[in-house]
Amino acid sequence: MTSPTTAQAGTPAYDIDAIRADFPILGRTMHDKPLTFLDSAASAQKPRQVIDAISSTYETEYANVHRGLYQISEAVTARYEGTRETIRQYINAAHNHEIIFTRNATESINLVAYTFGRKFLEAGDEVVITELEHHSNIVPWQMLRDEKGIVLKVAPVSDDGELIMSAFEDLLGPKTKLVAVAHMSNVMGTILPVEDIIRRAHAVGAKVLLDGCQSVTHIPVDMQALGCDFYVFSGHKLYGPSGIGVLYGREELLDAMPPFMGGGDMISSVTFEKSTWAKLPHKFEAGTPAIVQAIGLGAAIDYVNAIGLDAIGVHEADLLNYATQKLSSVDGLRIIGTAPKKASVISFTLDFAHPHDVATIIDRAGVAVRAGHHCAQPLMERMDVPATVRASIGLYNNRSDIDALVAALGEVQELFG
Ligand code: ALA
Repeated sequence: MTSPTTAQAGTPAYDIDAIRADFPILGRTMHDKPLTFLDSAASAQKPRQVIDAISSTYETEYANVHRGLYQISEAVTARYEGTRETIRQYINAAHNHEIIFTRNATESINLVAYTFGRKFLEAGDEVVITELEHHSNIVPWQMLRDEKGIVLKVAPVSDDGELIMSAFEDLLGPKTKLVAVAHMSNVMGTILPVEDIIRRAHAVGAKVLLDGCQSVTHIPVDMQALGCDFYVFSGHKLYGPSGIGVLYGREELLDAMPPFMGGGDMISSVTFEKSTWAKLPHKFEAGTPAIVQAIGLGAAIDYVNAIGLDAIGVHEADLLNYATQKLSSVDGLRIIGTAPKKASVISFTLDFAHPHDVATIIDRAGVAVRAGHHCAQPLMERMDVPATVRASIGLYNNRSDIDALVAALGEVQELFG
């Protein structure tokens, strides 16, 4: 399945064959063809190290956390809390109590909308998003708008899928209370100039939330250097389990925000008259958390760290260039999103077949891609397409995967062209 890549030649430490061997699912077939998995932006596959961390926890060390005064509970609590520290280091947050476990990035954004939004935003206050947002960074703000009368402003993107910075800046003003933007587009791969965005938002006194779902797997991020106020991501795109996500928030903001959900573990004391809240991070973690999923996420980050995000970035950039060249030579193919600064995601349309037909046909060749609106319907409208086919690259992909995609598109052309 593998063939040498430029990145492999240029960075001998990047042992793609060994990496692929860590992912058991890559050894299976789909419709009797080798699996070509190009849908990591939707959810990434899991290495053996993550699967083992999950099963060994269930087999040898499972109990509830924060409650048991016995050895297994203390051990699993230490591993669960250890993941918090692993995440803190991974994104260089100042404190590990700034790391809140949630179910996924969607829940993290909703948490901010429900708590920060409800407490600190008033009718007429403005939230600025962009045209390239995922629905999870649109709908919670619309719900807040409908409830509180805030104003939602949308910064436009250019034809190549870049944020138009001058237009973004024009939207900022004294009423802007929050800027909530993707760090990297899940549809086009565009990397947004978040340092600039944060600087400009802070200059008008607004807070900034970054949706890091896509960027967290490809680009090193540093919360302290960025100075962003909230950063959210999901575990399952970072080679960890589903059911676990992260909200990073600056301590002073999280401290000032009311709890999201009430229940066990998030309280300091409860009487029928009044309850008081636990300190961070537990104030935001009501109920038994996703214990084993958190431990699995810790193992996933250890795995990514062992390879190194920089090396992963070089490998993936090489593959993205290769894919862009190869796909550009397919007749009738139009790439949606050609920003100079982009990573690991390539969306396209074929002028002779609908994206859903393309994905269904290439599935028969063992190629897994996503087709549709990618939870970004307003962006589809902006780019004037009903849907796209999206191939997304993970740390385990190689040039053979791209070749398999291009060959499968040839079969689509034979059928429809
Ligand atoms: N947000 C995920 C995607 O882009 C599910 O596919």
